[in-house]
Amino acid sequence: MFNPGITVKEHDETRQGEALVLDSKSGKNNGRKLYIESYGCQMNFSDSEIVASIMMDMGFTTTGTYQEADVIFINTCSIRENAEQRVRNRLKDFAVAKLRKPDMMVGVLGCMAERLKAKFLEEEKLVDIVVGPDAYRDLPNLINSADEGNKAVNVLLSREETYADINPVRLTSNGISAFVSIMRGCDNMCSFCVVPFTRGRERSRDAHSIVQEVTELYNNGYKEVTLLGQNVDSYKWSSEDGTEKVNFAQLLERVALVSPDVRIRFSTSHPKDITDEVLYTMDKYDNICKYIHLPVQSGNSRILDLMNRTYDREWYMERVNAIRRILPDCAISTDIIAGFCSETEEEHQDTLSIMDFAIYDYAYMFMYSERPGTPAAKKLTDDIPENIKNRRLNEIISKQRDHSKVRLDQQVGKVQKVLIEGFSKKSDKDYCGRNDQNAMVIFPVSDNIKPGDYVNVFVDRCTTATLIGTVV
Ligand code: 5AD
Ligand code: SF4
Repeated sequence: MFNPGITVKEHDETRQGEALVLDSKSGKNNGRKLYIESYGCQMNFSDSEIVASIMMDMGFTTTGTYQEADVIFINTCSIRENAEQRVRNRLKDFAVAKLRKPDMMVGVLGCMAERLKAKFLEEEKLVDIVVGPDAYRDLPNLINSADEGNKAVNVLLSREETYADINPVRLTSNGISAFVSIMRGCDNMCSFCVVPFTRGRERSRDAHSIVQEVTELYNNGYKEVTLLGQNVDSYKWSSEDGTEKVNFAQLLERVALVSPDVRIRFSTSHPKDITDEVLYTMDKYDNICKYIHLPVQSGNSRILDLMNRTYDREWYMERVNAIRRILPDCAISTDIIAGFCSETEEEHQDTLSIMDFAIYDYAYMFMYSERPGTPAAKKLTDDIPENIKNRRLNEIISKQRDHSKVRLDQQVGKVQKVLIEGFSKKSDKDYCGRNDQNAMVIFPVSDNIKPGDYVNVFVDRCTTATLIGTVV
């Protein structure tokens, strides 16, 4: 929600993605165009690439202009109330387009589809199909049904579906970095969170299919992959005969070995599950980026217990100490919720003090938003007044702004290995790219370097959000 000078990334529901224009890959062009827009976490963006792949197999091409689409898909997020509100507002734009083009089909995908199910069809008259995150293989049937004038819903959750065999179409890709989903769902039941209800039980994808996907990306010129899961540290896959077992540290190693030229990132790590084995594997391979997203949520043990996070303040601090010990240069980012049910002023101070302890490189900070059906909504009272939540959030944001600057300042005066992503947002005289720690670095364009190259950049200064330097 509020990311002062901080890279927009996971679970920022303001993110929004449009499809590039791509031709049908099956060669059986059905003459119809798909427009797909994604909200929420990286997992949703990755799912949209699976959806696009299924649609292109049916002969659809994609368009970046929703007014000219035959089918509009909106892949939705339910994590906070304002995420849902944003989708509802966007549907109003699509309703206008549909007035002009009455045979246009509108589909709602993802977490809101799962949460609201058939109710969506009643509440939003323009919607023709509603598809939950585990039902994308059924899209051809659902579209046929809607073509015949019958609105269609499939929100069945699965215990097995990982879409392992579907080759995603890289929609918003720069051809350099890609997301690879390694697991789906979540079994954690944090009391504030809708994800276990909208994305179902946790399941891990076949390790071989992950390594194969990363290998294909490498063969196609990609230089960075981000392994995605709600809780990557609980990744656990075994072969059908049980002879082969792979945990997250072992998966990381297999993926790192695809090529030293492919950088590996991953998200999200749960503090209760991140092991020293993962940290040592990160240390062993130069191409595993030294950056961990480790959501703390609160710095107070009573609140963490109410949140059902299954760790306490001391456990979290010990994990941060382990990261600092094994990976001294590792960046850490976090998620924080301000004003959870019954949080006192002292307990809020504990969140501020754990920030002082960790000095996070980045943070994604939110006011608590009660979500229907979650354990917190059922058992606890959302009793912190809005103005107090807001003040606490602002204190957290202000502290994080200082800490982000401290962390950037520490990187000034050093040479950083940067993967060039493209021109900087402000000028085509500068390139931008991230260093190992995920900080954005800006430096002048020169003749012998191009996007996709690794370069060493000497950083001589920084702003509140970026490092600035020159290639050495
Ligand atoms: N209210 C506010 N923030 C939430 N998050 C998840 N559920 C809620 C909620 N109900 C935040 C958590 C999580 C991130 C993805 O979103 O911080 O780590
Ligand atoms: Fe939600 Fe907790 Fe699972 Fe993250 S780990 S998706 S916060 S239930």
